[in-house]
Amino acid sequence: MAPAPLTAAEISRRTEDICRAAPIVPVLIVEDVAHARPLAEALVAGGLPALEVTLRTPAALEVISEMAKVPGGIPGAGTLLTPDDVKRARDAGARFGVSPGASEALLEAAEAEGLPLLPGAATATEAMALLARGYTVLKFFPAEAAGGAAFLKALASPLPQIRFCPTGGISPTNAEAYLSLPNVLCAGGSWVAPKALMEAGDWAEITRLAREAAALPRG
Ligand code: 3PG
Repeated sequence: MAPAPLTAAEISRRTEDICRAAPIVPVLIVEDVAHARPLAEALVAGGLPALEVTLRTPAALEVISEMAKVPGGIPGAGTLLTPDDVKRARDAGARFGVSPGASEALLEAAEAEGLPLLPGAATATEAMALLARGYTVLKFFPAEAAGGAAFLKALASPLPQIRFCPTGGISPTNAEAYLSLPNVLCAGGSWVAPKALMEAGDWAEITRLAREAAALPRG
């Protein structure tokens, strides 16, 4: 079926809805496709429905397809770098995409493929370029290294139209500093799905971490 294209404004409306589903979007690096279903079930059970599967492992696209079968889950694809990544993610069943940055080619592909995309920005100029193109919901990456919550707080006054999902270096200890800001919708983080727990099949502990993350207060 041919994809239905989306405008940048519609993409941002949809990514805002996804970001509002829970305070934390788990950032997942999944090596083994057998982990996809139990991992998604554990995170959804803990209250985190939006799941960013990074395209950093050979299994990633198959993992997205498996997660798409989990009731209540909203599988997405992270680390989208090229138009081909966008197409492959959408074909695998991703309902949203995330990129560490933004290029014209990537934005055009997301719009043409109708894939809600969180494009990345780390400076006021990058955020302004995306705003001019119609994007009002952005990923702030790499959040801690690029200035942290203080940086995002400073952007809220001159760029109040833009909302962010900060990602990169976020943990239970600093998440609240971001989530309390008026221009933050949610935050991304890998801490809810550590490699060791996935390898041990300790899905109950992942659900516990997810439940704690889902309970973080938002401003
Ligand atoms: C990433 O792309 O790896 C994310 O930014 C996750 O970062 P984190 O591992 O610091 O949560």
